Amino acid sequence: MSSNQPTPDRIMHLANGYWATGILGAAAGASLFTHLEAGADTADQLAAKAGISERGAQTLLDGLVSLDLVELHNGHYRNTPEATTYLVEGQPACLSSFTQLKLAHMGNLTSLPEVVRAGGPVTDATVEVADNPHWQHVVPAIAAQSVPVATVAADLLHLADAGEISILDIGGGSGIYSAIWLELNTTAHATQLDWEPINTIARRLLAEGAVADRFTCIDGDFHTTDFGTTTYDIVVYSHIAHQEGPEDNIALFAKAHTALKPGGTLVICDYIVNDDRNGPPFPLLFASEMLLKSKQGNTWRRTDYQDWLTKAGFEDISFHPTPSPATLIFAR
Ligand SMILES: C[S@@+](CC[C@H](N)C(=O)[O-])C[C@H]1O[C@@H](n2cnc3c(N)ncnc32)[C@H](O)[C@@H]1O
Repeated sequence: MSSNQPTPDRIMHLANGYWATGILGAAAGASLFTHLEAGADTADQLAAKAGISERGAQTLLDGLVSLDLVELHNGHYRNTPEATTYLVEGQPACLSSFTQLKLAHMGNLTSLPEVVRAGGPVTDATVEVADNPHWQHVVPAIAAQSVPVATVAADLLHLADAGEISILDIGGGSGIYSAIWLELNTTAHATQLDWEPINTIARRLLAEGAVADRFTCIDGDFHTTDFGTTTYDIVVYSHIAHQEGPEDNIALFAKAHTALKPGGTLVICDYIVNDDRNGPPFPLLFASEMLLKSKQGNTWRRTDYQDWLTKAGFEDISFHPTPSPATLIFAR
């Protein structure tokens, strides 16, 4: 067989892709990365620390070696730098809860063939409703993925030195942008617009830091709530555009434009695909999540954002890569 002939190897890996979700979520749930970091480095030690079987610990370790999250040296296991940075508990950017959430959601994918036929969700569990228990779990778990992005945005916008600015975070969720930015800029104030149960979570999370007195919440639906006029220096719209259709995104961008002071910046963060939809890989895959869970959502193209922002009155639009699969857009 010549070396450039196709083999079944990659398709076997893809078809069993759920092994990775399962191993990662189960290892995180057993705090294996945290125990490895603290020095436990064999299956029996890890089993004892995690309260799991030795056979189970060895199986997880085998899987984690295959997934390049754990390295084996002379019979002793240790985290790779990636696992140390993003899977050891107690750090703001730790994705451990997120991996467990994705494992819990994995069963929903069995309805994808039906969803594809129907062209949208086939259960009531869409993301756009206030009382969806989905949010209670998603919001704290996804906070970690916004940590590097909010940090990069703060750097690019020089927020630490921006003085007494006011920030509106639309659908702010955990309040992670406010938590990071208010810590960096001790004179800034932030307002988060989200549903009441989510704002309660955000208030609780921000009360753990020293910024709660500069954080205010507005309870409500962002489609129907007024954002104010020339009130804010920065408006944030992070991981919202993908759940909304074109008309709603334009309407929300227009309200953000009205709410900004002259010279203010709308900060959008989302998974954005190239104009010809040939990449990048993560945003292309994420479109399936929106088909499964939202009535009109998608991963939108750069040109969509440019078009919608222009219609909403913005003139200066720039795109910025981040250390995550998400892209930042600044619009003025
Ligand atoms: C995917 S999360 C993004 C959270 C946060 N912005 C981030 O980037 O980490 C979406 C957030 O929007 C909120 N949300 C969705 N639809 C909403 C609506 N119609 N009105 C108010 N909040 C909404 C949800 O409660 C949730 O907190």
